[in-house]
Amino acid sequence: MRKIDIFDTTLRDGEQAAGINLNTAEKIEIARQLEKFGVTIIEAGFPASSPGDFDAVQRIANMVKNSTVTGLARAMKSDIDRSWDALRGAEQPHLHIFLATSPIHMEHKLMKTPDQVVDIAVEAVKYASKLFPLVQWSAEDAFRSDKEFLVRIINQVIRAGATTINVPDTVGYATPAEYGALFKYLKENVTGIEKVKLSAHCHDDLGMATANTIAAIENGADQIEGTINGLGERAGNVAIEEIAVVLHIRKDIYGVQTDLKLNEIKRTSQLVSQLTGVVIQPNKAIVGKNAFAHESGIHQDGMLKNRETYEIITPELIGATVEPLALGKHSGRHAFSDRAITMGFDLSADKLNEAFVEFKKLADRKKEITEEDLFILFTDQQIRY
Ligand code: KIV
Ligand code: ZN
Repeated sequence: MRKIDIFDTTLRDGEQAAGINLNTAEKIEIARQLEKFGVTIIEAGFPASSPGDFDAVQRIANMVKNSTVTGLARAMKSDIDRSWDALRGAEQPHLHIFLATSPIHMEHKLMKTPDQVVDIAVEAVKYASKLFPLVQWSAEDAFRSDKEFLVRIINQVIRAGATTINVPDTVGYATPAEYGALFKYLKENVTGIEKVKLSAHCHDDLGMATANTIAAIENGADQIEGTINGLGERAGNVAIEEIAVVLHIRKDIYGVQTDLKLNEIKRTSQLVSQLTGVVIQPNKAIVGKNAFAHESGIHQDGMLKNRETYEIITPELIGATVEPLALGKHSGRHAFSDRAITMGFDLSADKLNEAFVEFKKLADRKKEITEEDLFILFTDQQIRY
């Protein structure tokens, strides 16, 4: 089965999200968990950006053995040298160099001509390849770049020694059909593309990062980049847990595999949320508090008869503990009586009816009915003659 590498950038692109600031100890804890989760590559930071980032990348590079560790660098000698100092102790030193290729970035940010950008990229990749066995080159804002220019510059950086080519949708502007088509175009037009890994990197500004990443996989991407819980600049990066579960649940369509241990998803997500302080929205796909909650009576009835009526993913798959069905004002009699039995109450049909009437009144007033509320309701009926 075709294998997809998972490049995690929670500690670099994820940490760029507004309001997040992880210290070295927290980064190390997250890196340990990412290794356990089975990600292929951990982007541990941007060594030249600050002494703190340098320190974290160096420690993670020296500690992690089962994932490759990388750091980000601008296309300049000083960044590459600093990154080498941080990463030289890694099992398999890997460097991630980026340089923008879209007209707007080249003209207004870099203030360089396309020819100058090609020269800078080639020089940087050549220099890095002398130090690092693995060099990834990213065409920042690739999606808004001229396609023919992209082919030209990628041809040259592959010749200069790049081992992975990353094609980011930096501003989250792509649609799935367009992003997929770009991968197909690059596969068909870049010389030597079969010798390198082709990578997707999607941002979620239009809420399409997951669909775009999947479209890239369908069109030949060998690696995908993302973060845990979809953390990242602005609306964030693609959430790795979503890609992992899509590829698993819809193996029938995509037919690819990863090295991820899906039962580590919940733990990884909770750790990242706890250490970054970024709360996960309750209805977040896969890891939200309500992702497996069924409140309406009709759904609960179906679930009690056969879980597959409304459940395409089991909580066990992602290592979540199975929560009992949430009871609220939409819940039905079946789920209510089922809960009474689970909680050890043996109520007659009449008493159960009375308790159900009281429960509905309470549920109209209270958003969440707790185990304690139910206990009082059931006990009330049990002691009444
Ligand atoms: O979104 C982006 O373009 C990036 C690059 C640095 C790869 O994060
Ligand atoms: Zn990014």
